[in-house]
Amino acid sequence: MSDEVQQIKDKIDVADLVGEYVQLKPAGVNRKGLCPFHHEKTPSFMVSPERASWHCFGCGKGGDIFTFIEEIEGMEFKEALKYLANKAGVTLTSNFKSEVNSSQKNRLKELNNEAARFFHNFLLKMSVSKPALDYLLNRGIKMETIEEWRVGYIPEQWDLLTQYLLKKGFAIDDLVASGLTIKRDNADPKTHRGFYDRFRGRIMFPIWDVQGEVVGFTGRILVEKENSGGKYVNTPQTIVYDKSRVIFGLNKAKREIKSKNLIVMVEGQMDVIACHQAGMKNVVASSGTALTEEQVHLLKRYSNNLNMAFDMDEAGQNAARRGITVALKDGFGVKVIRLPKDAGKDPDECLKKHPQIWFDAVEKAQEVMEWYFEKSFTNRDLNNHKNKQVIANELLSEIALIQYAVERDHWLKELGSQLAVEVSVLREDLERVKNLKIETKVKTETETFTKKSEIRTKLDVLIEAYLALLLKFPELLMRLMDEDLIRLLSMSESASLYEAIKKLYNEDKKLNIEKLIPGVSFDNQEKINVLLLQGEWQFSGMTPEEAEIEMGKLVASIKEECGREKRKHLQIEIEKAEKAGEKEKVQELLQELIK
Ligand code: GTP
Ligand code: MN
Repeated sequence: MSDEVQQIKDKIDVADLVGEYVQLKPAGVNRKGLCPFHHEKTPSFMVSPERASWHCFGCGKGGDIFTFIEEIEGMEFKEALKYLANKAGVTLTSNFKSEVNSSQKNRLKELNNEAARFFHNFLLKMSVSKPALDYLLNRGIKMETIEEWRVGYIPEQWDLLTQYLLKKGFAIDDLVASGLTIKRDNADPKTHRGFYDRFRGRIMFPIWDVQGEVVGFTGRILVEKENSGGKYVNTPQTIVYDKSRVIFGLNKAKREIKSKNLIVMVEGQMDVIACHQAGMKNVVASSGTALTEEQVHLLKRYSNNLNMAFDMDEAGQNAARRGITVALKDGFGVKVIRLPKDAGKDPDECLKKHPQIWFDAVEKAQEVMEWYFEKSFTNRDLNNHKNKQVIANELLSEIALIQYAVERDHWLKELGSQLAVEVSVLREDLERVKNLKIETKVKTETETFTKKSEIRTKLDVLIEAYLALLLKFPELLMRLMDEDLIRLLSMSESASLYEAIKKLYNEDKKLNIEKLIPGVSFDNQEKINVLLLQGEWQFSGMTPEEAEIEMGKLVASIKEECGREKRKHLQIEIEKAEKAGEKEKVQELLQELIK
């Protein structure tokens, strides 16, 4: 197995792989970008093609291609291995493959794939499907679109699909677990009596995950009757379909979203398909629910600009507002797509009647704050001071969500001028509103940083920076060196690594990283990879002279910080000794503190 892991590592360039998710820019021999795992405005996410590794100096995550896929796709190691083996064209040994395939997740994906094939063939080949096919073609959906989205149909029957899949050899338990089959209370697993299809008499749309595997379905009723259920029925929550994490169309839209750096979000599956067919391919849908935190996080990998189209009635606006709040908190730039009144009730209808209106509406989408301002100020008399407070409350709670100080300030000033109120007054109110919202779960940049420094002391951080600089400029090893520093370093967490560097440098009079790595522990190997990236991140482009100055500063800070920690420690000891009444010890410690 480790052979195969290595083979895959050799074939896949970490920068190419990460580049599918993150916009990377060159940084010396490495690449740099905004971390996909936490919210940040300045890049601290580094990728090293040479070392086949990545590391974020903001949130501390890092690793190789496998850990990257595990993190970003939420996969277990075995899934990531299978996914990357596929990508690299490496065949896993049969022994290992069967282990992977035997997991229920994989069986359910396979089962969903088979069902999608069944629905699709049924739509295209069976004469009973003619009304369904006609319906789709009448709605303006082209044959090639039907094929591309693998649209299908299942007629109004009791257990057509269930029987088909059983004959194909799938287990009844897996059928039920996939949500395709419903089990009655009195069902008998032996004879398969009492099991029936969830989807009946419906046009079927497969739902894919980002990697393009079918994880569920949404079925639209063909002929509405009493008790035929809702217009749309979806796969329920299963181990492969989590509706708060799936975004309809993302697998097909992700490339275009990245190249346009814009996500267009619509409400319905039919809207997504119609937009793609019309050539607008950066369009996705949240499948009829308000956007969740997980969905927003998933979208963030591809772009942080979001233009949203939603039903402008009260219910539609409220659902959209919830989604917008989540997106703003995650640092998205959000705009609202507004269709003129007579342009059709949704993007699909608008595209049929006046395609250009839809394209223009997306292009000229309105800043979400402008939209909020418009809504708050409409039909409110500003001569009544109570109205002013209502408007201020409404808008301040939206402004408080904006993650960027300059932008927040802009809208604060705008609000001040429109209400004819001093901005300083609004600022006070904003603080109050913010404090009310303190329980929000979305991590901001500062939070991430404080969390990180809780784990590592300031001294650890300084010593790591010192070592990172040293690996970049090893000739500085013997400069700025004194007994104190040597003692400090050999007492730190990095002592063994520091010793190894010193030893090798003294032998060779230079530092060859490739020679250093095999001689150190596995933990230290990892550490070296991270430190090399850190050096690139913090000290790239420095001349040797600048590096020496920087190192001088670091050494001074290390000593100072060390002194501070020691004083703190001594003071605690003194307090303890005083409490215990140990006079001699107090004197001793005091002497040391003075020294
Ligand atoms: P078409 O009539 O096929 O054009 O659908 P639509 O997308 O225009 O439908 P509508 O505007 O009524 O609903 C928008 C979205 O909400 C749909 O695409 C579905 O995702 C979702 N939705 C609508 N009706 C139902 C329902 O009865 N059940 C569920 N679960 N979702 C629904
Ligand atoms: Mn519609």
